[in-house]
Amino acid sequence: MSFQGKHALVTGSSRGIGRGIALKLAERGAKVGIHYHKNETAAKETLAKVRASGSDGFVVQADCCQMDQVRRMVQRAKSEFGKLDIFVSNARTDLATFYQGVMDIPLEKWDAAMDSQAKAFLVAVREALAFMPDGGRIIAITYAPGGRTGSWQPWVAMGSAKAALESLCRYFAVALAKRRITVNAISPGGVEDSVLNTLPPAVKKQIDAWHESGWTPMARLGTTAEIGNVVALLCADEANWITGQVIAVDGGLSLMDPIFPLEIQRG
Ligand SMILES: NC(=O)c1ccc[n+]([C@@H]2O[C@H](COP(=O)([O-])OP(=O)(O)OC[C@H]3O[C@@H](n4cnc5c(N)ncnc54)[C@H](OP(=O)(O)O)[C@@H]3O)[C@@H](O)[C@H]2O)c1
Repeated sequence: MSFQGKHALVTGSSRGIGRGIALKLAERGAKVGIHYHKNETAAKETLAKVRASGSDGFVVQADCCQMDQVRRMVQRAKSEFGKLDIFVSNARTDLATFYQGVMDIPLEKWDAAMDSQAKAFLVAVREALAFMPDGGRIIAITYAPGGRTGSWQPWVAMGSAKAALESLCRYFAVALAKRRITVNAISPGGVEDSVLNTLPPAVKKQIDAWHESGWTPMARLGTTAEIGNVVALLCADEANWITGQVIAVDGGLSLMDPIFPLEIQRG
């Protein structure tokens, strides 16, 4: 699978999952726009790795809660590349800006989550379509359980925002089908080298143990490269018939059923 001659923009690719995605696209020959919010050094490190893999790109700064900045970010891809074959919406505003329970979350935090996901996706995709060739690929990185469950109380704004993001993928998928542009969401399980690694070590250890115990059937967290691999698969010509889907990439995590103790489920 070669992406020689293709151009991609990956939001939030200074670090974490976004970096894993950018590197996988670059390994296959795509030129990649590396987006960051505050961490320019990390974005430049990603670009250096892109170049080390034989490809090229640029770095661009934007706050995905500010729509004028989102437009400017996409326009930068236009001025650098002339066309955009692949757009990956991965950035998520930092926890402090939205993490609070449903009973007392301030509206500013609600808006930060919604803006960074649904509104930024709406604005960026519409902006990108003007220079995306037919047959292009649009991929959103979601966290599907957050939009389905109600258990992780301080996640209410981001869970709701991810549900809106997934919904937008379906609407865009239908609207863009005539142009053979596919629009899908990828829903990772827990991933190493991501926001999880910024948690206190004791909390991270608890999370690791939970997944190793079997709640993720493959008994580990995923890697950023594994998420990047699936983005690359969706960008392949052979994936042209997949659109409007939310694809779990989670080592089987989403197959587990909280009704039954693990011992019964594993048989
Ligand atoms: N981590 C997981 O296990 C997991 C599981 C399921 C889904 N996901 C989803 O995967 C995506 C990436 O998660 P991650 O854990 O890799 O994230 P992360 O390591 O926390 O990185 C966040 C990225 O978003 C950027 N960012 C932060 N605030 C921003 C803002 N206001 N405007 C624009 N960009 C901003 C950061 O840029 P700077 O470096 O400049 O700050 C960074 O590039 C998210 O959409 C998340 O919901 C993650």
